[in-house]
Amino acid sequence: AGRRAEPLAETAAMIEGAGGTALAEPTDVRDPEQVDALMHAAVDTFGRIDCLVNNAAGNFVVKAEDLSPNGWRAVTSIVLDGSFLCARAAGRRMIESGEGGAIVSVIASYAWTGGPGTVHSAAAKAGIMAMTKTLAVEWAQHGIRVNTICPGPTATEGAGAALWPTPEDEGRVASSVPVGRLARVEEIAWWTTALCAPQAAYITGANLTIDGGHWLEQEGYMGALKQE
Ligand code: HXC
Repeated sequence: AGRRAEPLAETAAMIEGAGGTALAEPTDVRDPEQVDALMHAAVDTFGRIDCLVNNAAGNFVVKAEDLSPNGWRAVTSIVLDGSFLCARAAGRRMIESGEGGAIVSVIASYAWTGGPGTVHSAAAKAGIMAMTKTLAVEWAQHGIRVNTICPGPTATEGAGAALWPTPEDEGRVASSVPVGRLARVEEIAWWTTALCAPQAAYITGANLTIDGGHWLEQEGYMGALKQE
């Protein structure tokens, strides 16, 4: 699901080209009716919902004192309301099916460190962490596991254009990661899939950070060692 039909159709064609089955539903996650229609279509097509990945987000850099109420709402409603509405609509159907399921929401490390310049997104991602821990307990009795995944800087076209437009910018970001490079998309996708798999049956209410040590990076006293 996504707001624009065109990239959805391209993605569905790629999945089908690889031998899979796909359903593409243009959806704005801020609208409870559209979210419900999406989950309804998924159950209609596939019989039940096994996994939900809350990956929709919106963000822009702004000083908190300049952020308009509408700008705050635009980001928090996509990130926090959208994740809840999707979890609620999928969770209801997982409960009904009696088969349980897995929910994974994508967050960012500023959910716990704070995120200067992105107060709306940081607050909303922190909200998703609290929602995840709450639903993990409420829905454990239904066999539904609820977790978060926290990617670091990842090599995608969209992130590159917005956050590291030049090769120099990209080099700066890569060198701020202790592992020394950006994440590959597969390195995030693989663990998202793994958290949905039966092998993760005992993992719920947890966060998995996949960021090459990015959020732990700090200058500390390493400068003195480098001069030696
Ligand atoms: C200040 C801004 C703004 C900006 C929008 N607004 N962009 N304010 N600076 N750059 C304000 C507008 O002025 C308006 O308020 C309000 O936000 C709503 O704007 P719209 O454009 O009408 O909203 P909408 O079309 O719903 O777009 C939502 C959006 C947009 C979030 C603003 O950027 C979007 O849809 N982005 C989706 C893709 C995206 O951002 N992906 C990045 C996610 S990455 P007023 O008061 O003027 O009406 C991510 C993880 C980062 O989240 C992790 C880093 C570690």
